[in-house]
Amino acid sequence: MSLLAFGIETSCDECAASVVADGKKILSNVVASQVEAHRPYGGVVPEIASREHLKKIVQVAEQAIADAKTPLDDIDIIGVTQGPGLIGSLLVGLSFAKAVSLARKIPLVGVDHVAAHLFAAQLEPKPPKPQFVGLVVSGGHTSIYLVNDHIDLEMLGATKDDAAGEAFDKIAKFLGLPYPGGISIELESQKGGDPRKYALPRPMLKSGDLNFSFSGLKTALLNLVRGWSKKRVGKERAHLCASFQEAVVDVLVAKSFEALEKLKIRKLVVAGGVAANARLREVLKMRANIKNVELWMPSKKLCTDNAAMVAALAYFMFKEGIVSDQAIEAYSTLYRK
Ligand code: KG4
Ligand code: ZN
Repeated sequence: MSLLAFGIETSCDECAASVVADGKKILSNVVASQVEAHRPYGGVVPEIASREHLKKIVQVAEQAIADAKTPLDDIDIIGVTQGPGLIGSLLVGLSFAKAVSLARKIPLVGVDHVAAHLFAAQLEPKPPKPQFVGLVVSGGHTSIYLVNDHIDLEMLGATKDDAAGEAFDKIAKFLGLPYPGGISIELESQKGGDPRKYALPRPMLKSGDLNFSFSGLKTALLNLVRGWSKKRVGKERAHLCASFQEAVVDVLVAKSFEALEKLKIRKLVVAGGVAANARLREVLKMRANIKNVELWMPSKKLCTDNAAMVAALAYFMFKEGIVSDQAIEAYSTLYRK
């Protein structure tokens, strides 16, 4: 008999629900994006995000159950993102999950969103078995983990300031590209952008640790174009985007392989929204080939926020005997071990 986990994800601007069997088989994966609601503001507006979640959560959850062709009574676990994220948004998903858990007497498992990103890899055909190094690159986080066991994650390093996705989003906004910025920068770079045209810094590349910093890189680009006319910025936009993207990719790849070398591990998982970036995927693949490292990058749909990864992590936690009670609270900041 399969163990069915119903995942709920509302940490930021995607309202998502999914049913996953045995932590690996996706039976349904519904994601209602709020991109259109936030686009006029050039970024996520927390108040709008929580209101949108409230409007959508029941419909999204019902759709996930319907798509899975599984009655709610057959669900064994409810997995829900507890944090980190926007508190108002998290509370919508958490309250919903608690209510369903209480009403249907289904065990509740609160999961960490950043850890959940790594579990997207468990939903791929040949999932990685721990130990492996995991890099999570998203709009809110850029962290490297040593994954000892499915639920034993040790943080090796993280960003000291902006997350990689946040830097993409801010630069895109500055260059007049639409939100969300990561994909806009990727598409703009592909319009003949030369990644070597502008020499931007590779922050903390030689710091000797596994931490990141992206705020200086962002400032370097802003300083570079200071005093330029709008016309000149427009003309150089593809080159600026390609040069910026290359700098971010270089740092992410270098630190990941530094972690692998330090720990003498040959398995790498890269997940989170920024892991959908085609250039990052290409460079990681090349480097993994050269270094003889096994690489897992979830499909793009599973890199960006979704509830299947939440259901997968909830399954592994439940198997370890972890069940949350009704008193669990949402948390906004990164969980550090
Ligand atoms: O994981 P995610 O969906 O949400 C968070 O947990 O933050 O990541 C969203 C981030 C955004 O900053 C977005 O710009 C970035 O991922 N992103 C990308 C790409 N697609 C999404 N960054 C670079 N290239 C992409 N193709
Ligand atoms: Zn995320």
